[in-house]
Amino acid sequence: MEQKLTKLKEEALAALAEVTDSAELEPFRVQYLGRKSGVLTTVMRGLANVAKEDRPRLGALANTVKKEITSLFEQKKQALAAGQTPEDSIVGLDLSLPGRRLPVGKLHPVTQVMEEICSIFEGLGFAVAEGPDVETDHYNFEALNIPKHHPARDMHDTFYISDSILLRTHTSPMQARIMENQEPPLRYIAPGKVYRCDSDITHTPMFVQVEGFLVDRQVSFADLKGVLTSFLHRMFSDDLAVRFRPSFFPFTEPSAEVDIACVICGGKGCRVCKRTGWIEILGSGLIDPEVMKMVGYDPDEYSGFAFGLGVERIAMLKYGINDIRLYYENDLRFLSQF
Ligand code: DAH
Repeated sequence: MEQKLTKLKEEALAALAEVTDSAELEPFRVQYLGRKSGVLTTVMRGLANVAKEDRPRLGALANTVKKEITSLFEQKKQALAAGQTPEDSIVGLDLSLPGRRLPVGKLHPVTQVMEEICSIFEGLGFAVAEGPDVETDHYNFEALNIPKHHPARDMHDTFYISDSILLRTHTSPMQARIMENQEPPLRYIAPGKVYRCDSDITHTPMFVQVEGFLVDRQVSFADLKGVLTSFLHRMFSDDLAVRFRPSFFPFTEPSAEVDIACVICGGKGCRVCKRTGWIEILGSGLIDPEVMKMVGYDPDEYSGFAFGLGVERIAMLKYGINDIRLYYENDLRFLSQF
C-alpha cells in the first residue's frame, strides 16, 4: 500500500509537469483526483483490506499525498490562467534571493591621492591650474633659470620631441606660465603628468607631480614652512615630525628639501628610510629673483615660495606600497583595494 502511494505520487507529479495547456487540466484531475474512479480513490478504497493497526498510518499518508497533488494541481491551474509558461514556474526559483552585484569602477589610487592633495591646498586658499604635457624647452628649463648646458638638466632624463619641444619633466613650468599672464598676489597649485626616461622600483617613465607657488609682497621662508607643515599634517597626521633640510634648485634661493619622520618605523630607523628615521617628501624654496625678472616682476617688490611633490611617492607612504610600478600594471587585484 505504501509503495503504491509513493509510486502514484511520482506518476501524478510527472504527468502534471507535462501539462502545458489549461485544456489538459480537467482530464488530469479526473484521472488522478476524480472521486468515483480516480487512481487515488481506487488506492484509498484498498485501505479497507489492510490490517487494522496499519490503517491510521496509511490513511494519513494517503491524505498527505492527496493534499500535495491537489495543491500542485491548483498552482498549475493558476499559473496557466496567468499566462505563464511552464519554465516560469520552475520549482526552486527563489524570488527573495538578493540580486547579483555588478562590478563598480573606482578612481585610481594616484588620482584619489592627487584629489586629496588638491583639496587640502584649496582649503589653504590655493587655486588649481593645469598646463600642457608637451612643453617647450623655454618653459621647462630656460624660464626656470636652467640655461642650456646647465648641469641640472642631466638630472631630468628628458624625452625630447625636437630641439625645442619636449615632454615636461616637472610641473614647475606652470610657475612661469601663470606668473607671465597675471599680477600678484598669486596662490596656485598645478597637478599633472610628467615624464622622465627612467624605470625601476622607485621610478616610472610617467608619474604625477603637484607644483605649488605663492607670490605676494613680503613673503618669507616662515610662510613656506607654515603652509607646507600644515599640508603634511593634514595629509598624514597632526603630530608628524617635519624637517627642512638645505638643498639646491636653480629656480629657488634659498632651497630646502622637506623630510617627514619615516611613516614605516616612526623615526626609529628601518630599511625604507635607510636607517635615518627620515623620508624626503618634497622640494621647495623661495622663488629665485632671476625667475621673477624673466616674467617681468620686480624682485624688490614681490617675493614668493614654490614647492613640488611627487604624488605616487606620497601615495606609497600613505598606503605602505614598496614598488611604484604596481600603480601602472593595471592589476585589478591591486587597484580594487583602494
Ligand atoms: N621641479 C622639481 C623636480 O621635479 C621639484 C621642485 C623643487 C619644485 C623645488 C619646486 C621647488 O617648485 O621649489 O624635481
